Amino acid sequence: MHDYLPLLMVGGVVGLFSTAFLIIWCSIKGKTEEIGFDRTMPDGELFRRLIVYAKPHWKSFVLVLFIMVFSIAYDLISPRILGSVTNMVQEEFELPQLYTMVALYAGLLVVSMVCVYLQSIILQRVGQKILSKLREDLFVHIEGLSHEQLNNIPVGKLVTRETNDTNAISMLFTNILVNMVKNAFSVVGILCAMLVLNYALTLMILCFVPFIIFFTVIFRLLSRRAYRKVKDCTTDINTYLSENLSGIKITQIFNQEDRKNHEFLEKSAALAKARQRQMIVFGTFRPLIHLLNTFAVMCLFYLSARGYIGGTTFLGQVIDSGTVVAFYMYISRFFGPIQNLTEQFNMLQSAMASAEKIFTVFDMEPQVVDEPDAIELDEIRGEIEFRDVWFAYIPDEWVLKGVSFHVQPKQTVAFVGATGSGKSTILSLICRNYDIQKGQILIDGIDIKKIRIASLRRHFGQMLQDVFLFSGTIRSNIALREESFTDEQIWQACKYVNADSFINKLEGGLDEVVRERGNNFSAGQRQLLSFARTIIHRPEVMILDEATANIDTETEILIQDSLEKMKNIGTMLIVAHRLSTIQHSDNIIVLSHGEILEQGTHQELLHNKGRYYQLYTLQFSKQQLQAQGPTA
Ligand SMILES: Nc1ncnc2c1ncn2[C@@H]1O[C@H](COP(=O)(O)OP(=O)(O)O)[C@@H](O)[C@H]1O
Ligand SMILES: [Mg+2]
Repeated sequence: MHDYLPLLMVGGVVGLFSTAFLIIWCSIKGKTEEIGFDRTMPDGELFRRLIVYAKPHWKSFVLVLFIMVFSIAYDLISPRILGSVTNMVQEEFELPQLYTMVALYAGLLVVSMVCVYLQSIILQRVGQKILSKLREDLFVHIEGLSHEQLNNIPVGKLVTRETNDTNAISMLFTNILVNMVKNAFSVVGILCAMLVLNYALTLMILCFVPFIIFFTVIFRLLSRRAYRKVKDCTTDINTYLSENLSGIKITQIFNQEDRKNHEFLEKSAALAKARQRQMIVFGTFRPLIHLLNTFAVMCLFYLSARGYIGGTTFLGQVIDSGTVVAFYMYISRFFGPIQNLTEQFNMLQSAMASAEKIFTVFDMEPQVVDEPDAIELDEIRGEIEFRDVWFAYIPDEWVLKGVSFHVQPKQTVAFVGATGSGKSTILSLICRNYDIQKGQILIDGIDIKKIRIASLRRHFGQMLQDVFLFSGTIRSNIALREESFTDEQIWQACKYVNADSFINKLEGGLDEVVRERGNNFSAGQRQLLSFARTIIHRPEVMILDEATANIDTETEILIQDSLEKMKNIGTMLIVAHRLSTIQHSDNIIVLSHGEILEQGTHQELLHNKGRYYQLYTLQFSKQQLQAQGPTA
């Protein structure tokens, strides 16, 4: 038997070093090499930023570590108890002795189960707190991004960041890191426990470790790719869904269901395939490790049986049945954590990839920001001036070329021009949705860059062609913050814009449910609600961008009337295609390709016989033709 010793020694030492290598390799490898998740942020930096979210809960984490000691203790001690019991029952024993052992075992088991329960409760609570904090921070950050930045990120991607990725990070703290610590301690602890019990058998088991390393290396290579593919496919499908579900009516109108089905099936199949591949990789790795586990157990039984039958000793030691039982249990508790560690390193990498994606969004500095010396503007008169404003969405593709105009307080000014001439752009620049490249925009003589953005936007009421209603009630959509206005004020605003007549006919009145995007109301009704929403907030400057475009003639009369009334509230800037809507404006600015062609009152412009005159006569004759239509 002693012939085995040198061999086992070598195998054991190789195994021991391999264990250390495995642990070190897994942690260092992840840091130096980008684990295939396209990361550019170093792990150190990611951790530093992530820790900020864990820090407030450090007490819980310390508590969890403390509790963990007990559950590891169970793993280490229980095999010894069973081993002793096995030995005991083979010899003469007294029942009370056995009872004591059973009680000890049961006690340990209960303590360990309670510990696991407490640990998961604490971790889940902390995890949910971290998750909501992260989600809220991210949401607030996204809200602060400029229109240009938001135009560049698909909504589906942002949804994935807000849901899957924040979830992955909360898992990182509550599941991955904690279990990795536990598994690492378990591996070391069980190794020590085995060495103390029987060093020779421990050496035998360590001989299997090089094989574990081999499988692990291959597993990590394959699983890395599989993980990445699953992630990419998930983001892809989320992006596709969020866009196409919003546009599903267009799909139906244009009979594109088949094509869209086909596209979706492709994406869905890609995700299914990626997941299957991931499952195959995991499904192969786990049985392989289990196989090693079984081999180790077989060796254990073989060696001990040989010793028993042949009456020999193993490396000069007698292996009693108690030792066999204890080792049998230790072996699976040794291989299990190693397998878990490997899988958890992968999950760690995936979580770090999520973290990086989230921090990339966090790193998008809001482009339109308050200057350090920006001022609060409590009240404004509503005077607006553009001084030689140049603006481009894309560098050097000028959309506005040297636009200058002046609007006096309480004036109504209309913008006219072909589609794409820059009308909406002008209106959006006044609210500082984008920053201009050259020139100045002044409100009451103050450059808008010198005014705090929130304070600036508070003075504007925007009514656009696509009214966005949030799901909720009519009341919540008008007041936005319900507690800020009384029902009386809300009704007053509705009356003012002639929205009261249709709301009165609704069963729920102000409490009538508004479905997503207000799709249970007609375009005209939505528009009237948006007017009420604007009016109630009493803006000094009102902006109407083709707000009257989707409206039938009957509603138009209502809207025309409310527009007339709204003119008294403050300055009004209007874009409308029907020139009849803007005839009575104090000033009409005619735009073409980002430049002002002419401006003046309706009469002045007609008199000039310029572009406005052409547009007017065109619309006028069209109307007349329509009016004569049936008789002609
Ligand atoms: N977000 C954007 N990114 C890039 N170009 C844009 C964007 N919005 C508008 N444009 C371009 O700016 C020009 C003016 O658009 P806009 O002000 O919306 O015109 P109008 O409202 O007069 O129809 C158009 O040529 C349009 O293609
Ligand atoms: Mg427009």
